Amino acid sequence: MAAPSRICIVGLGYIGLPTAAALATRGLDVVGVDVVPGVVDAINRGEAPFSEPDLAVAVSGAVAMGRLRATTAPEAADAFVIAVPTPIREDQTADRSYIEAAAEAIAPVLRPGNLVVLESTSPPGTTLRLSRWLAERRPDLTFPHDHQDAADVNVAHCPERVLPGRIMIEIVMNDRVIGGVSPTCAERARDLYAVVTQGRIHLTDATTAEMAKLSENAYRDVNIGYANELSMICDHLGIDVHEVIELANRHPRVNVLQPGPGVGGHCIAVDPWFIVEAAPEHARLIRTAREVNESKPSYVVGEVVKSAQRYRDPVIACLGLTFKADVDDLRESPALRITTDLVRHGLGRVVVAEPHVDALPADLAALGGVRLVDTAAAIEEADIVLLLVDHAEFRGVKRAALRGKVVFDTRGVWR
Ligand SMILES: NC(=O)c1ccc[n+]([C@@H]2O[C@H](COP(=O)([O-])OP(=O)(O)OC[C@H]3O[C@@H](n4cnc5c(N)ncnc54)[C@H](O)[C@@H]3O)[C@@H](O)[C@H]2O)c1
Repeated sequence: MAAPSRICIVGLGYIGLPTAAALATRGLDVVGVDVVPGVVDAINRGEAPFSEPDLAVAVSGAVAMGRLRATTAPEAADAFVIAVPTPIREDQTADRSYIEAAAEAIAPVLRPGNLVVLESTSPPGTTLRLSRWLAERRPDLTFPHDHQDAADVNVAHCPERVLPGRIMIEIVMNDRVIGGVSPTCAERARDLYAVVTQGRIHLTDATTAEMAKLSENAYRDVNIGYANELSMICDHLGIDVHEVIELANRHPRVNVLQPGPGVGGHCIAVDPWFIVEAAPEHARLIRTAREVNESKPSYVVGEVVKSAQRYRDPVIACLGLTFKADVDDLRESPALRITTDLVRHGLGRVVVAEPHVDALPADLAALGGVRLVDTAAAIEEADIVLLLVDHAEFRGVKRAALRGKVVFDTRGVWR
């Protein structure tokens, strides 16, 4: 079967839009679909609705060439790529409703010979479920969960491994794992991704591909959890954890990661729960690492509160709100959680320095008793300085400015 040339991408966020732009730039006809009309309008004007290096130029070029346009409802195509969110719910189970909604939306326009690829990070078994959801909505077509290679429609999973800030490079350069519900499904998805991928493409079955993606992020989480647990043990013993790690890493086969105030972002802090959900009795280490990492923000708050109680009206400077260094992304940020908890404690006043935002998030500002100031002013005013994010600007702080203050350096950048 010929490689697909007309592609419909459902979900035009950090993953879907770069994928759409990359495929369109290589000459495929791409229709992007999003439920947010503002996103659709921006793309049709040739603009990227969020900031990511090199994305704006790729989108404007692809739209100007007539290869990319956006709409709110899926249209007939050779291949469909689903890149909608897969958040966790309160009970730490995956919310698959966005994928089901995407299935519902594409089902009416499916035709024999179509390929459907799920890119969203998903619990094991979700791609098979997607195949079943499509089958329920299109009883006139056959699907690979029960017709394997003979199915009218092919369904595969191609998880995404890009790093925000490098998405346009990594979407091309990274190796890809592609899992088919049947071997033919995997091969057809490979033909699609071969258009953009310069890395190697590894074929497997859909559930293995889902698990491979989740294992990558759980691996990171477990290793960070180890460093975070070490940091609490070392605090208890009155030892500098950063020195311990530096010395331990002199061993030729040891590479302990750096501890921090917790784990943030919407991938590493979320995806390991999908494994726990799939095998709760067996995923003991993965669950514990999640719990250790989730407990770290309250541990940091507890340490700062203990210290603040020694002052009458302390000023606490929180340096950084984002989930990692030198980005403006606040999603699942432990720094934001810690700052919010400290403000709620009402111990003195909190000043925040965050060079990557122009205003405090509305929920934090609404609490009152907290101000956004520049880094120098925050440190100058503070009795207690709490470094939460290792932004380049904070690394450059002169040590003399910290003299006489209680310093909590959760990232170990001022050692
Ligand atoms: N952002 C990353 O760095 C990254 C990396 C690897 C994997 N992932 C995974 O990729 C998936 C997508 O993540 P993202 O960061 O692009 O999310 P995002 O929130 O940036 O974008 C998702 C888009 O889908 C749209 N959408 C929601 N429901 C829809 C529907 N039914 N039909 C059409 N559009 C719909 C939203 O409006 C939004 O624009 C998630 O599963 C995520 O875990 C993300």
